[in-house]
Amino acid sequence: MLDKKSPPRLKLVVLVSGSGTNLQAMIDRSRDGRLHAEIVAVVSDNPDAYGLDRARSHNIPTAVIDYKKYGKKQLPEIPWEILPGNFDRIVEVQRLFPGLRGEELREKLARMMLAERELISVIDKFNPDYLCLAGFMRLLSPYFIRHYQGGAACAVQPKNIALSAWKIINIHPALLPAFPGVNGYGDTFNYGCRFGGVTVHFVDEGEDTGPIIGQAIYPIWPRDTIEDIRKRGLALEYELYSQCLNWIAHGYLQVNISEKQRITFKITDPGYENFLKKMLELSFNN
Ligand code: GAR
Repeated sequence: MLDKKSPPRLKLVVLVSGSGTNLQAMIDRSRDGRLHAEIVAVVSDNPDAYGLDRARSHNIPTAVIDYKKYGKKQLPEIPWEILPGNFDRIVEVQRLFPGLRGEELREKLARMMLAERELISVIDKFNPDYLCLAGFMRLLSPYFIRHYQGGAACAVQPKNIALSAWKIINIHPALLPAFPGVNGYGDTFNYGCRFGGVTVHFVDEGEDTGPIIGQAIYPIWPRDTIEDIRKRGLALEYELYSQCLNWIAHGYLQVNISEKQRITFKITDPGYENFLKKMLELSFNN
């Protein structure tokens, strides 16, 4: 008999660029019931991503978006006419390239958006509830983010504080707001941190700046190498990503907005303390 209390499983599109061990953890947990979600498609910017093979071997539909097609080499002239009408606004609100100005910035965003047009048309065919970035090593422009999240996370417009406005989720291999960017484990290690962490967060228009859903930490021992801490951190990533999605699926996230207009999410799961203890045990025994 169908359990009436169980909410529907989330429909996820997962975006990967590389080996896809986080994707594999999601697939495994989705299949054995630990993750209350179904992966409806896997999309990559890299045709050689091993994550695509993982998806195929589980009969999950895949797609590849060739970002190189929109680079200067293959596309010397930008077809400005096909970019969305609010392009100037997107240039104005972006926070990804604070060092860029003028034509250089416009061209960079335009090329990104051309690839994202394709990305959107592929993703929308699957009509997902959430997009999960799992080692997707591309920045996303405000054009892409607004397609899925409307005015949420917009620096200029009034912020949309409904939980349902947040649809794009990322996993980052550091304890944000420390060490955003592409080398979370390396940056944590090279800084000489005594603890490292991993973060699952909603995506806003900055790089790794969106509201935090969940975090977990691990110790860094004097004998450790970067590879040791990556291994320890990844074991946490696999558990944390699924747990955060389960919190969303079961309505255990509550949105808050501070006086300074910062959006945060509170976890209301009564089992939260036990989960954190389990994460600490896992990281100290690894
Ligand atoms: C993971 O450590 C993930 O946190 C990180 O890439 C790795 C992907 O591994 N993501 C980022 O650094 C995003 N800025 P995987 O392909 O084996 O899941």
